[in-house]
Amino acid sequence: YVLGIDLGTSSLKGILMTSDGNVVLTKSASYGIDNPKQGFSEQRPEIWTNALEKVLTELSKNVTDFGTALAGISFSGQMHSLVVLDENNLPVYPAILWNDVRTSAQCKEIMDKMGSRLLEITGNIALEGFTLPKILWLQENEPEVWTKVKKIMLPKDYLGLYLTGNVHTEYSDAAGTLLLDIEKHEWSKEIAKTFNVSMEILPELTESVGQIGVLTEEVKAKFGITTEVKVFAGGADNAAAALGVGLINEEVGLISMGTSGVVSSFEPKIADYKGKLHFFNHTVPGAYYSMGVTLAAGNSLNWYKETFGHGLDFAELLADVGSVAVGSDGLLFTPYIVGERTPHFDSKIRGAFLGISAVHEQSHFSRSVLEGITFSLRDSKDIMEATKAKKFKRLISVGGGAQNPDIMQMQADIFDSEMIRLTVEQGPGLGACMIAAFGCGFYENLEELTATFVHYQSETFTPIAENVAKYEKVYQIWKQAYQATAGISH
Ligand code: XUL
Repeated sequence: YVLGIDLGTSSLKGILMTSDGNVVLTKSASYGIDNPKQGFSEQRPEIWTNALEKVLTELSKNVTDFGTALAGISFSGQMHSLVVLDENNLPVYPAILWNDVRTSAQCKEIMDKMGSRLLEITGNIALEGFTLPKILWLQENEPEVWTKVKKIMLPKDYLGLYLTGNVHTEYSDAAGTLLLDIEKHEWSKEIAKTFNVSMEILPELTESVGQIGVLTEEVKAKFGITTEVKVFAGGADNAAAALGVGLINEEVGLISMGTSGVVSSFEPKIADYKGKLHFFNHTVPGAYYSMGVTLAAGNSLNWYKETFGHGLDFAELLADVGSVAVGSDGLLFTPYIVGERTPHFDSKIRGAFLGISAVHEQSHFSRSVLEGITFSLRDSKDIMEATKAKKFKRLISVGGGAQNPDIMQMQADIFDSEMIRLTVEQGPGLGACMIAAFGCGFYENLEELTATFVHYQSETFTPIAENVAKYEKVYQIWKQAYQATAGISH
């Protein structure tokens, strides 16, 4: 067996699989987020290890040969969140999470001090969610805590520490800190020096598939494990999710419509997106991925359902969107209800319905919400294709949107691309299982690994030429909505 552990923001999920890619059992344990002040978002690392203990207990109780057949473990985890440890590797402060927005001043400070060097070294611009601004916040606001910090790490690395006793991180998560030289694959001395971050506190780096240790005797005894179990570094959730859908070459792109929307592309080498997209090291050794984020994708749809849905469920609410004309007869929606990341990086922008006419009915609003979300995802996809001067052969659609055939066809028409879906969706945890299986040496290469673990449905959604042409016109008009409404929102 291999075990993939996905450390999410609201729960920890363990997927136990056979080494040839079949799910044996999944178990999860949920936890909350602490918001001690407006804009603050924190978790104590202990709640993650408690959740891990629960999941391991459940797996060992329910799978008779768990303790004798488990060969490897790896992780995927929420990105950017700052874990700070003292000399005994104990947390000295709650983890400040990726969705915490207290660090606007620190982001400005980083951009002012580093200028264009930040993008050159890290491939990214400073955003509130990233790790370095959180470090600066701690230095400035909790100096006594900061003096106790002897190591920093990312959330999933804390699970690695719990299981092996060893302190490590790996490139895909290190890339989200703004402290990694993503091309040289080493911590940037220049950035560390600029912000008084001692190189000593930065953990040793390895590949995602790098082995960080074996299960300690203590952990083995606790969960009835008798064999030696190898533990591999794992990856940032978005990087592990990309591996888990088979994003191992440039032919396919990933469209994920969850609470937020993500568009990802495999990148064989450094590409210059000028900070318009996130650019991180991949879980695939030596490779990268670019990523655009629509902050409120499913979240916009959910807000719309809660606010205007009259108690209908999603299926009822969206039942007649297929009968509304492409472009919703002129009704436009911008999904900026909590601000936007790609391509505007604007936390103050807010959403809008534009062009409301007396002919519009509820179904127009439903369709225009879906179209607005999809246009926003297209913004990211278009930046990728324009920079690479290459179109994706097909796009893999995951998340809630992929369950709905009307949304799948809309994606095909708006993206002008063939759309495919997975047979079963497991999320980033599947990528973690694949890392463990690869690390254990069960596979010769990534193609073989992916062919075994990742399966697509045979049904595809292909663009309808007439709709593509109509959407092209509507999208060009929709794109103006950001500038047109920015002045009012700010
Ligand atoms: C990526 C990001 C989120 C977290 C969620 O930049 O902030 O997707 O990785 O866990």
